[in-house]
Amino acid sequence: MLLRNKKILLGITGSIAAYKSILLIRLLVKAGAEVKVIMTAAAKNFVSPLVISTLSKNKVYIDWQDNHEWNNHVELGRWADVFLIAPLSCNTLAKMANGNCDNLLLAVYLSATCPVAVAPAMDEDMWHHPSAKKNIAQIKEFGINVMQVANGELASGLFGEGRMAEPEDIFNFLVENYFRSTILKGKKVLVSAGPTYEAIDPVRFIGNRSSGKMGFAIAKTFYLQGADVVLVTGPTHETVSYNGIKIIHVESANDMFDACTTNIDANIIVMCAAVADYTPAVVADQKIKKQDDLFQLSLAKTKDVLKYLGSIKKQGQYLAGFALETENELANATKKLKEKNADCIILNSLNDEGAGFTKDTNKISIINAKETVSFELSSKKEAAENIVEYIINQVAK
Ligand code: CTP
Repeated sequence: MLLRNKKILLGITGSIAAYKSILLIRLLVKAGAEVKVIMTAAAKNFVSPLVISTLSKNKVYIDWQDNHEWNNHVELGRWADVFLIAPLSCNTLAKMANGNCDNLLLAVYLSATCPVAVAPAMDEDMWHHPSAKKNIAQIKEFGINVMQVANGELASGLFGEGRMAEPEDIFNFLVENYFRSTILKGKKVLVSAGPTYEAIDPVRFIGNRSSGKMGFAIAKTFYLQGADVVLVTGPTHETVSYNGIKIIHVESANDMFDACTTNIDANIIVMCAAVADYTPAVVADQKIKKQDDLFQLSLAKTKDVLKYLGSIKKQGQYLAGFALETENELANATKKLKEKNADCIILNSLNDEGAGFTKDTNKISIINAKETVSFELSSKKEAAENIVEYIINQVAK
């Protein structure tokens, strides 16, 4: 579990966006985190402490004392790995910027030894008021990590800036900023993903069914292991959930070659893209008109990115490729391993149910010069974890 044994202290202030904190708590607890919550008195008007304590599986802290027992604000800030205030209201923001201490949440903030992050929530005009701007600048100067507000429908009915980020985005923000592993810290990883589109004329192209899911999952997994990740992707609906992943969007095999070869300084390279092997020899300037019954297209071979990177591979650099096969799987994959000078080939066969392009699952075998390791059918996320773990072990040898 991504957040197993992680301790998150969540502060909830008086804002309509507090309903999103309920969903956030669920995401955090499901990911294995221990969550304790502090609410201001105003927050109680928006969400019930009973709901919060039930979901967080902990008592909720609101006052300085409960039943004549002191709530130790210093202890809470020392217990947590991170203190996140979400939503952060305009009022609490102003108090934080000025060092006020008139409730438990502020006392915890002022004495916290752990990192503090906030997700502001305000109506657009409040968000743009000079005092809010000044206070945000001030708390940033104090070292507080301020999440960007979103643009969209606001409680007032207006549309604009000031919405608190969505729970999934806050979750990813926490993972990215505070809980990445350091195993691959300082290492650069290059991943290619998705299909390529080869233009025929201004409106048509030759493409393939690759969804990009496998490559995106691999890029995310490497990033969570602490690596600096560059993801070169062809056209896809996939998105990256972490701001730190550098994403380069390309369209054709030629673009993919250029983007990958400008990142050859990577320590680990995983070529997962389904690159077109052939591209139209000539791209028509205008839309091709329907004429004869038979239409022929001349195709020219594209540059093989993996093969090129294999031919200039440096000492210590690790190069992995993929092979999607429909027959003679092992023999074909082994041939690719040698011909492309890769350190391993990740093989998936279209003959395996659940494996392949558009699916959410995959069944892989990893082949290197000495052995073949096969894995059970799994989600692409789990397959990515297996691939990354395998590569980390190989690199460490
Ligand atoms: N690859 C590449 N550039 C290309 C073609 C393929 O980088 N122009 C990479 C893929 O990203 C993958 C590996 O080479 O990592 C194998 O791709 P695949 O399409 O399975 O094999 P090909 O070499 O194209 O051979 P064939 O299509 O004949 O199976």
